[in-house]
Amino acid sequence: MKKAILSAVELENENNSIACEYMDCVKDIYHSNSMKKLDKFEQHNHTSRLQHSVNVSYYSFLWSKKLGLDYRSAARAGLMHDMYYYDWRKPNSLRGYHPLWHALIACDNARKEFGLNDIEADAIKKHMWPCIINFPKYKESYIVSFADKFCAAVEFFDGIETIRKVSRLKAAYAQRR
Ligand SMILES: [Fe+2]
Ligand SMILES: [Fe+2]
Repeated sequence: MKKAILSAVELENENNSIACEYMDCVKDIYHSNSMKKLDKFEQHNHTSRLQHSVNVSYYSFLWSKKLGLDYRSAARAGLMHDMYYYDWRKPNSLRGYHPLWHALIACDNARKEFGLNDIEADAIKKHMWPCIINFPKYKESYIVSFADKFCAAVEFFDGIETIRKVSRLKAAYAQRR
């Protein structure tokens, strides 16, 4: 069962009220093939794009709910904010424009498959703020943008810790031989 990073809540646990509330907001997207395909791409340091999207979505949901905002739109936008299908590390024609273009591509993909309300479209298109100069229009968009940076940082350090653990295991194994 999937969990968001740093969270103990199993998102598919039907006995957990917060997980059920979250799933009610996103289940059509969460179980779609378009989401599953994101698992093939590494996003940050051993975290897949699917896991990163779940992380951003879950924290956007929690924080928006706490602040009395539209948590459904925030959760849905968070889940779809990186819905693009290329490896941004590999050289390609979009590489130089990636910070701007991937958000527009994700917005286009999400709109075609799931339809978007104004908050969701704004949050997806502008989640790279302040790297792009277009200011978000809604509070929920700021939440998604902040959740994106927060999760990217945690994923980065989590990846470093995983590399350290593997190195320690390798060293211990080498000493035993
Ligand atoms: Fe992104
Ligand atoms: Fe992201």
